[in-house]
Amino acid sequence: MKLFIDTANLDEIKTAQSWGILDGVTTNPTLLSREKGNFRNILRSICEVVDGPVSGEVVSLDAEGMIKEGKDLATIHSNIVIKIPMTLEGLKAIKSLTAAGIRTNTTLVFSPLQALLAAKAGTTFVSPFVGRLDDIHQVGMDIVSQIVTIYENYRYETEVIVASIRNPLHIVEAAMFGAHICTIPFSVMQKMVKHPLTDSGIKRFLEDWKKVEK
Ligand code: G3P
Repeated sequence: MKLFIDTANLDEIKTAQSWGILDGVTTNPTLLSREKGNFRNILRSICEVVDGPVSGEVVSLDAEGMIKEGKDLATIHSNIVIKIPMTLEGLKAIKSLTAAGIRTNTTLVFSPLQALLAAKAGTTFVSPFVGRLDDIHQVGMDIVSQIVTIYENYRYETEVIVASIRNPLHIVEAAMFGAHICTIPFSVMQKMVKHPLTDSGIKRFLEDWKKVEK
């Protein structure tokens, strides 16, 4: 499974990169709004740190505007992937950008049918938002399982990025269902490595090591 970080914060990205397990980055307008500096410079800096897909999102609502923005964002760096919202206009933009050789990540996906349409339009990645579904008491992970099955049934090459992850269990379930990628907030990434038995085990080994004749 590939692990992306869901942030536009360069310090978090550099730290996760130093752990040696980072495969890519996803940003969105909200995440970029939390950072200082021009968004193009931020995206470029991220691309210089991480050698993998880096998603930047368009804000136009019509296909023509999305295509124009997408082509412009793609000039920032070869790692850039264009995040397009799941709408009819978005589908048109995905088709066109794909034909132009530009990779897309279809975002704000909340149903398996939306994911099916995005794959048919040729999107490189699809991002089901599990946490936001959980928030409205619909089991978010259900659509991940459905999307993975549908893509396998028809051999779509679109990769599933499980997004809106809120806790480590989301990642376990995504991996069990065979999702290709999880995009994970920094705080959740830190939690993935932690286990109290690991900590107490290290403490005990160090205490016992003192008793060993050296
Ligand atoms: O990158 C998009 C997605 O992961 C957003 O997550 O927590 O705002 O629902 P959240």
